[in-house]
Amino acid sequence: MKFFLDSANLKEVEVLASWGVLDGITTNPSLLSKEGKIDPEKHLKAICKLVKGPVSMEVFSTEAAGMVAEGKRYAQWAKNVVVKVPMTPEGLKAVGLLRKAGIRVNVTLIFSANQALLAAKAGANFVSPFIGRLDENGEDGMTLVEEIRAIFDNYAFGTEILVASVRHPRQVTEVAMLGADICTMPFAVFEKLIHHPMTDLGLEKFLADWNKRKK
Ligand code: E4P
Repeated sequence: MKFFLDSANLKEVEVLASWGVLDGITTNPSLLSKEGKIDPEKHLKAICKLVKGPVSMEVFSTEAAGMVAEGKRYAQWAKNVVVKVPMTPEGLKAVGLLRKAGIRVNVTLIFSANQALLAAKAGANFVSPFIGRLDENGEDGMTLVEEIRAIFDNYAFGTEILVASVRHPRQVTEVAMLGADICTMPFAVFEKLIHHPMTDLGLEKFLADWNKRKK
């Protein structure tokens, strides 16, 4: 499974890129707005320099024509830009048009298997099921990932399942077991994947024993 960082923060991108396990980035308007007064073009170009894999940049327009125009502009910023469009009728229209122009597309705000199926049929490269928000709404994000995996395998869709809205490390394990292609997560979840209290204690003991040796 590929690991993406769900963030527009350059420091976080830099730290994770240095670990050697970062396969891509997802951003959205909320994450970009957290960065304050930025020039989206300069900011995205900076991210794309740090990470070779796909970097998703979401459109702001709600009409297909506007989405396509924005997407074509983003695609000129860097080779690894992926255009993120919302799961709406206009978004679906934009998928086909952007794909015809040779631009990769990620369909976001996926909350049902039928939405994922539609996005795949339209030609999306990635679909982003939002599992954390579903759980918070009293539904089951993990079941959604399972359903999408089964459907994409049944019909041999090449569309990648990019699990999004991840809240904790256990979800990372579970979506990997279900065969998700990608998991995007915030920096805090990424960090938690590394740590275990027994690792820290074990290391402490090894070093203490070494320091106690007869010199
Ligand atoms: C995915 O691409 C989205 O950026 C993301 O995971 C949103 O999730 P959240 O706002 O529920 O955390």
